[in-house]
Amino acid sequence: MARALVPGSFDPVTNGHLDIIERAAALFDSVLVAVARNSAKTPLFTLEERIEMLTEVCAPWPNVQVDSFEGLLVHYAREQEAVIIVKGLRAVSDFEYELQMALMNRKLSSAVETVFLMTGAEHSYLSSSIVKEIARLGGSVEGLVPQSVGQRLQQRLGSPQTGK
Ligand code: PNS
Repeated sequence: MARALVPGSFDPVTNGHLDIIERAAALFDSVLVAVARNSAKTPLFTLEERIEMLTEVCAPWPNVQVDSFEGLLVHYAREQEAVIIVKGLRAVSDFEYELQMALMNRKLSSAVETVFLMTGAEHSYLSSSIVKEIARLGGSVEGLVPQSVGQRLQQRLGSPQTGK
């Protein structure tokens, strides 16, 4: 059984992340969405909130589970018996950083392979940071995040509209 990890900060999960998770769920038997506990960034949402939001929006896919990890991703992959890391690539600007991480992860563990999925064109401009900035500045995040996430952004930051 091929188990894949979809790791990230998910602060918060966007429709771009969901596109990648849904497509990973169609490709692999089991998908574990791995929320990084120790992000260098100061998150807007706590780890528990990020897991809660992801668990809710990933509910339609029975082979997708949500968990958190701390420390090296390859150690977590070994612990979870996952041999594939799935990452989304939005633009050329993502490539250099993602290549560095993929090569370093392979150096750390040759048993783990990183697979890249090209983000859908409609999500290529989307990131959690941009969504937070829009919400913070009072713009609409409709169509950018699931409705339940939009509501949480509204509660936290006062964004006027939600969507999807
Ligand atoms: O959503 P993000 O913030 O781009 O996710 C980055 C993440 C969490 C996938 C990455 O920082 C990571 O894998 N962190 C775990 C620590 C680790 O294994 N670092 C070495 C990677 S080369």
